[in-house]
Amino acid sequence: MIHLTTNGGLEDLAAAELRAHAAALGIPLGEVVEKPDGRRGRVGFDAAPEDLPALIPGLRAIHHALRPLTRFTLPAEGALAEICAQTAALDFPELHTAGTFRVTASRKGRHAFNSVDVQVEAGAVIVERWGLPVRLKQPDLELRYEIMDERVEVSVQLTHAPLSRRHPRPAPLRTALGANVAWALLTLANRDRPPPAALLDPCVGSGTLLLEAAQLWPEARLFAGDGFEKPAAAARANLADAGIDALVTVADARDIDETFAGQRFDVIVANPPFGVRLGAQIDFREWYIAFLRAAAGVLAPGGRLALLALKRTAFNRALREVPQMGLTHVRIVDIGGLFPGLFVLERRPVE
Ligand SMILES: C[S@@+](CC[C@H](N)C(=O)[O-])C[C@H]1O[C@@H](n2cnc3c(N)ncnc32)[C@H](O)[C@@H]1O
Repeated sequence: MIHLTTNGGLEDLAAAELRAHAAALGIPLGEVVEKPDGRRGRVGFDAAPEDLPALIPGLRAIHHALRPLTRFTLPAEGALAEICAQTAALDFPELHTAGTFRVTASRKGRHAFNSVDVQVEAGAVIVERWGLPVRLKQPDLELRYEIMDERVEVSVQLTHAPLSRRHPRPAPLRTALGANVAWALLTLANRDRPPPAALLDPCVGSGTLLLEAAQLWPEARLFAGDGFEKPAAAARANLADAGIDALVTVADARDIDETFAGQRFDVIVANPPFGVRLGAQIDFREWYIAFLRAAAGVLAPGGRLALLALKRTAFNRALREVPQMGLTHVRIVDIGGLFPGLFVLERRPVE
């Protein structure tokens, strides 16, 4: 079975996209399983190996595709020796054909070794047994070791760079959203609707949501704001570099009813600050109330707002204060160990 990796909370969207994408390409799929073996952020599926190169690159909901090779449990003593012994026993086609390789390890839990130790030790076993040289950048074969407490899974990574980093950006920002999460927000915002005519991202940052929206809906008119000049300039540079026409202004998200007065949006998507670094300075309930009221002022009747809100309690309280906006969908998404709510709201015909 092939495994796709995505953010925890998006497995159903990744599975649905996989089925739709395979059907559109005429590729037959076997079983599709959300969270195989209970693993969050994974979708497992069966397909013919020769179909994978056509199927995988077009998936927008995922980070990587993996082909699991082996799983084992670490002993209390001699864990690294066990990893080396299991590595020495590996034999699969790419080891016979690849010119270069690398090992990438990740780890959760307490261990007497770190991820680099695994990369060095397991890598040395492959070098010795198969005579393959290590290449850190763009190797032919990337072996992934995922260590979760005492469990280890070794896979061949079928994707090189994460598919969720699909937008090259001359002006990157540290807080950028993964393109797959941006895709999920946009997809849920516009579910069962024709493409939006006008779309706004009022907290644009480096522009991921608009970069993704332009690919999904090339005809949509795109608007953006950011409270600060630096991210607004970054978004302008990134969108221009991608050949995307969008109006980006410096404006507070809580004032979009004034900034974009007269404009009507079918969709607003927002990734407002989570408040991790400066959270203590912000009253999030008040922030969300002001933002929701402003969004209601520029959404077309029945238009939708999809946003990520880390302060979920504050958001739910705020929502009660804004009767113009009705909740249509909510789920929790794992974003690097933070768990914001992904909320979708609809503009009700009340004032
Ligand atoms: C989490 S980042 C968005 C990242 C963006 N989705 C991306 O992929 O690059 C939040 C953005 O909101 C902006 N921001 C903070 N307060 C704001 C406000 N009151 N109004 C509008 N934008 C604001 C920040 O400058 C930052 O660029």
